[in-house]
Amino acid sequence: MTISRLGIVGSGIMGSGIAEVAAKSGVEVILRSRKQETADAMVAALEKSLAKQVERGKLEEQAAKEISARVSATDDLHALHDCDLVLESVVEDLAVKKELFTRLDDIVKPEGIIATNTSTLPVVELAVATERPDKVVGIHFFNPAPMMSLVEVIAPLTASADTVAAAKAFATACGKDVVEVKDRAGFIVNALLFPYLNNAVRMLEAGTASRDDIDTAMKGGCNFPMGPLALLDLVGLDTSLSILDALYNEFRDPNYAAMPLLRRMVAAGQLGRKSGAGFYDYAKK
Ligand SMILES: NC(=O)c1ccc[n+]([C@@H]2O[C@H](COP(=O)([O-])OP(=O)(O)OC[C@H]3O[C@@H](n4cnc5c(N)ncnc54)[C@H](O)[C@@H]3O)[C@@H](O)[C@H]2O)c1
Repeated sequence: MTISRLGIVGSGIMGSGIAEVAAKSGVEVILRSRKQETADAMVAALEKSLAKQVERGKLEEQAAKEISARVSATDDLHALHDCDLVLESVVEDLAVKKELFTRLDDIVKPEGIIATNTSTLPVVELAVATERPDKVVGIHFFNPAPMMSLVEVIAPLTASADTVAAAKAFATACGKDVVEVKDRAGFIVNALLFPYLNNAVRMLEAGTASRDDIDTAMKGGCNFPMGPLALLDLVGLDTSLSILDALYNEFRDPNYAAMPLLRRMVAAGQLGRKSGAGFYDYAKK
């Protein structure tokens, strides 16, 4: 199936970035949030991002207009009924996602594919929450979606070859490098990345080095674009905690056992950039 109409559910960090990438590839995009004003705010964020690119000479004004014209916003899940692909990107919580998949299964046309942007959760559990497990797949974009070149396509045991092929073709058409991975927690990137991020929190908690020195060390010593604590703030500490919990539940590897400091920061509402405070303070900037 060729994807010409995409529905995106969820208005968090990832939603509008994925919308931008897809609309640039020529796909019609409908963004759905539970509140119309949030959905509208996502479109506004996308337009702001396009305007910046025009300002910097990276995008023609006419092209920006055409991209914007392909994107619309709604608070009504039923508006996604004729999408070829619906990609959910709501909170990293299996129960919430399962319920959403069951609802989407009732709404989306029978031939439509329903996909998840989950970072770690078992895609097969979302597949069996529907009556179309062969048409459920993982399409994992990275943050920020317009800048990051990778997409992981996750093939649960239930997915048909056609569904996996359509997901890969969609991500390729979005200009991404695509890797295919089995349905195992963390897939490739997060399974390898999160022990490192978690150990950076362990090091901070142990007082081995300061926040700034840990981040400076990994930037200068490994040529990473940002340090681990800044990266946790970018991902979101709540999402990071959910990712570690899912990894630990699956593999029982102590490297995946979330550090108490991370758990306490989430309990305190210190979620990173999105809440204005995490390992760094963003509100003051
Ligand atoms: N943050 C990242 O770096 C990143 C990268 C790749 C993939 N992801 C994945 O993308 C998904 C979304 O992550 P995010 O970082 O955008 O999260 P976020 O915390 O920024 O946003 C979560 C969204 O889910 C919505 N939501 C919360 N409860 C809901 C419910 N009961 N029903 C419907 N919607 C609900 C919230 O309103 C919000 O719009 C997660 O599965 C996450 O693992 C995140």
